[in-house]
Amino acid sequence: MPPAGWCLLWLGLLLASVCTSLESAASGNSTTAPLNVLLIIVDDLRPSLGCYGDKLVRSPNIDQLASHSLLFQNAFAQQAVCAPSRVSFLTGRRPDTTRLYDFNSYWRVHAGNFSTIPQHFKENGYVTMSVGKVFHPGISSNYSDDSPFSWSVPPYHPSSEKYENTKTCRGPDGKLHANLLCPVDVADVPEGTLPDKQSTEQAIRLLEKMKTSARPFFLAVGYHKPHIPFRYPKEFQKLYPLENITLAPDPQVPAGLPPVAYNPWMDIRQREDVQALNLSVPYGPIPADFQRKIRQSYFASVSYLDTQVGHLLSALDDLQLANSTIIAFVSDHGWALGEHGEWAKYSNFDVATRVPLMFYVPGRTAPLLEAGEKLFPYIDPFDSIVELMEPGQQVTDLVELLSLFPTLAGLAGLHVPPRCPVPSFRVAQCREGQSLVKYFRFQDLDEDQYLPGMVGCRYTFIQEAGNNLL
Ligand SMILES: *[C@@H]1O[C@H](CO)[C@@H](O)[C@H](O)[C@H]1NC(C)=O
Ligand SMILES: *[C@@H]1O[C@H](CO)[C@@H](O)[C@H](O)[C@H]1NC(C)=O
Ligand SMILES: *[C@@H]1O[C@H](CO)[C@@H](O)[C@H](O)[C@H]1NC(C)=O
Ligand SMILES: *[C@@H]1O[C@H](CO)[C@@H](O)[C@H](O)[C@H]1NC(C)=O
Ligand SMILES: *[C@@H]1O[C@H](CO)[C@@H](O)[C@H](O)[C@H]1NC(C)=O
Ligand SMILES: *[C@@H]1O[C@H](CO)[C@@H](O)[C@H](O)[C@H]1NC(C)=O
Repeated sequence: MPPAGWCLLWLGLLLASVCTSLESAASGNSTTAPLNVLLIIVDDLRPSLGCYGDKLVRSPNIDQLASHSLLFQNAFAQQAVCAPSRVSFLTGRRPDTTRLYDFNSYWRVHAGNFSTIPQHFKENGYVTMSVGKVFHPGISSNYSDDSPFSWSVPPYHPSSEKYENTKTCRGPDGKLHANLLCPVDVADVPEGTLPDKQSTEQAIRLLEKMKTSARPFFLAVGYHKPHIPFRYPKEFQKLYPLENITLAPDPQVPAGLPPVAYNPWMDIRQREDVQALNLSVPYGPIPADFQRKIRQSYFASVSYLDTQVGHLLSALDDLQLANSTIIAFVSDHGWALGEHGEWAKYSNFDVATRVPLMFYVPGRTAPLLEAGEKLFPYIDPFDSIVELMEPGQQVTDLVELLSLFPTLAGLAGLHVPPRCPVPSFRVAQCREGQSLVKYFRFQDLDEDQYLPGMVGCRYTFIQEAGNNLL
């Protein structure tokens, strides 16, 4: 019997050893190996995904991740604006504490010297890396993505992101425009690539490097789509024939809505194709055929994003890192696709504040892999038969993105910062959100597969520990 087995047999006596051996069982090694973290942050993605019950959107790779994850059905951002939401969940503090409701200040200067999720991992021995849009760029992260505090190496930004808002969209007139709707021939655009493709390639290069690293890694990958403009490889449009696109079920601006609750989506009005519609300010409306086109391009951008997530996760699998890496998937906030007359984030309606949130934890939300087995094979959304995969486990309680900090720290077995006092401006290390770790107890899973572990250990339930060790 292996040494790890003895520990479990002496369960009542050797608590510390049991913790160590449970960790060993999960890492497939006789030494304690910490779990890596892959944090995927998507920009402006509402839960329009197969795994959230959307019947139209094709997101087979994200659905596959969900099938091995614990998925939160009712997760909400602190605020439906990129910079405040990201600064909030990355520091684990509410916008009222970071004092950031827009884009114009850096919390370390204007609020308090608050620690961040990556900083916490870095200070606990992790190699922390940022690819793409993780912190919001600009002053809100001191023009450096909060380097050097949060990251071990300089953050990566795809070189082609500078073309996002330039005239690279071929219009019906054959000329190039800065449009909202921007399906492109990738071979034709500057540099012959798109930001999210470059970010996926860079993330895979970093995973390859980390495979042989003695230290665990925390890799954050921030995707740009489906943020406007909808600039995506044009073949993705074919997944969504216009005749299949429905309009928002509640497209009216609610009667008596106070103006402060409404945002007139000036950002999309500035696009050349939207300008040409001569919409009235502030309420529009947008003609129905153009509404369909916006929805089509949003969904196409989601499917394009899904392929990038698919390539990233299948690389993680190929590098045999899926056994030892926690994957968290989240969006900074949602986006209204015509609901209540809105075409934007910004509001407090649930379409703008509700987000996808799921966690894959090896050995906990899914069994550890057999040698040679793959959890995340790439799925082509263009395959005619794509089976919808149900989420592995779901939670319907209301949760908030503030919980990301304590949850990731807890799942990785790091010290979880204490609850913040009120006010907490002077406290560098504390958290305002609740840890979600308590949800990672799967009583309803097959008893043969999951065995109750010890509270306080890294794992509450360890797959096959029973079969292998007892
Ligand atoms: C994952 O861990 C299990 C259990 O330790 C081990 O048997 C398996 O070979 C590992 N799989 C991969 C793909 O590394
Ligand atoms: C266990 O770890 C040692 C050193 O850290 C390494 O050489 C060995 O390949 C690992 N074994 C497995 C099964 O991962
Ligand atoms: C803020 O925190 C960082 C990281 O802990 C530390 O290096 C820095 O000195 C602090 N700055 C101030 C002004 O206290
Ligand atoms: C922000 O960046 C500038 C320029 O790199 C640097 O001098 C300054 O110390 C940074 N601010 C903080 C609070 O770290
Ligand atoms: C479009 O709708 C038709 C009729 O409901 C359906 O047969 C077809 O599969 C749909 N196409 C796509 C790409 O969803
Ligand atoms: C918008 O206004 C311009 C200038 O008045 C006009 O040429 C154009 O036809 C109008 N477009 C639409 C869609 O009404």
